[in-house]
Amino acid sequence: MLIAGSVFSCQKVAIVGWKKKIPTSLICSSKRLIPPYLGEEEDQKRKREMGSPGMLARRALLTDTPVMVQIQELFRGSNDLLSLAQGVVYWQPPKRALDMAKELVWDPSVSRYGADEGLPDLKAALIKKLRVENNIHKSSVMVTAGANQAFVNLVLTLCDAGDSVVMFAPYYFNAYMSFQMTGVTNILVGPGNPKTLHPDAEWLEKTLRETKPTPKLVTVVNPGNPSGTYIPDPLLKVSLSLSLSLSLSLCRLIVLFVTKNVLKSYLKYFMYDGRKHTCVEGNHIVNVFSFSKAYGMMGWRVGYIAYPSEVEGLAAQLLKIQDNIPICAAIISQRLALCALEVGPEWVTEQVKDLVKNREIVLEALSPLGEDAVRGGEGAIYLWAKLPDKYIDDFEVVRWLAKKHGVVIIPGSSSGCPGHVRVSFGGLVEDDCQVAAGRLRKGLEELVSDGMV
Ligand SMILES: Cc1ncc(COP(=O)(O)O)c(C=O)c1O
Repeated sequence: MLIAGSVFSCQKVAIVGWKKKIPTSLICSSKRLIPPYLGEEEDQKRKREMGSPGMLARRALLTDTPVMVQIQELFRGSNDLLSLAQGVVYWQPPKRALDMAKELVWDPSVSRYGADEGLPDLKAALIKKLRVENNIHKSSVMVTAGANQAFVNLVLTLCDAGDSVVMFAPYYFNAYMSFQMTGVTNILVGPGNPKTLHPDAEWLEKTLRETKPTPKLVTVVNPGNPSGTYIPDPLLKVSLSLSLSLSLSLCRLIVLFVTKNVLKSYLKYFMYDGRKHTCVEGNHIVNVFSFSKAYGMMGWRVGYIAYPSEVEGLAAQLLKIQDNIPICAAIISQRLALCALEVGPEWVTEQVKDLVKNREIVLEALSPLGEDAVRGGEGAIYLWAKLPDKYIDDFEVVRWLAKKHGVVIIPGSSSGCPGHVRVSFGGLVEDDCQVAAGRLRKGLEELVSDGMV
């Protein structure tokens, strides 16, 4: 139940590369770590100290506070803030799909429950799409209320409390929280290459070989959130996937968490500079997808799990979790997703193409931090940047930028890397993105030259 493994790993990541000069005592200072269970009395004392009347669960109390909730607080009471924070896109779903949904509200079927695993028509369309677009042939599909819920389903299905799991820094904060709140407290956070942020495959192999009991699950997000880093094919297929499959007797399943991967064209266009996205499949691999970004469907909450059909019992166990959380993803949202899929890749292509410009605008805004400070951004909608060495407390910088310069970004400490920030460039149309980026640039120039005055 101790998170010590992740503390060390996290520090290790930090020490490799960009954070060489940061005292290790500070590296995890802004993360709330899960303390060991020291008995009932100590537990109650700790809960009281955390302001609870002693009735609340440790799994909730000791889970990180969602960074987005903290960020939303910055927006309260201020109507002139511009957001480069939340991972969203600025477009809405295809008009044809929205028009259809408007009519559909009167259809009695959307007010009823549907099949737990998803509407048959949508599942069939997704299986076809996975085959044609993602080269995934032996997987079954479960439709969920977004990728986040898909991830929780998987953690609850695959892991027991006290198990250890692996992720790589900088990690996706909600995935980390999913582990914490389900009692998977031994979270081993592996290093990335300091320059590319690619997961360190050697570290992974060693960790899987040496950690006892063997970690249950490895999470890889590609392209990365919060970094936008793209894991190239050879690393994904040969090093990561192969080394994991070789340690299969040790490691039962990987969750290969593919961000916002809905269509090839989407991938093609959410990948920049001609890079091409690929997926891997195997009996030790589960892929997670989302409709949120490609189709502007964040609030409709549709994602899906592509899990290996041949693994005995997996479907039945996943269904138990599904039946107790959403029962089924909202029917109207599933129908909208199906219609959006039918509208097809060209529509997504059209929406996504302007993001290349947004990325350039934001890259330019980050330039005061120095050429070497910015990483990632090869895919997805994120850039990742290191603040000057003395700004380990990235949340303080985020608050200062919001208050003094009217622009909001995400602190890297929420992803296990204090002293860094995530900047999202998908949520604003180009003109607004220009304004937000102008504020960010001005703020960073001031930070570098005069500090947080
Ligand atoms: C890795 C990852 N998982 C989950 C999500 C949330 O997706 P959804 O809206 O489908 O829950 C995101 C959003 O950006 C993400 O990057």
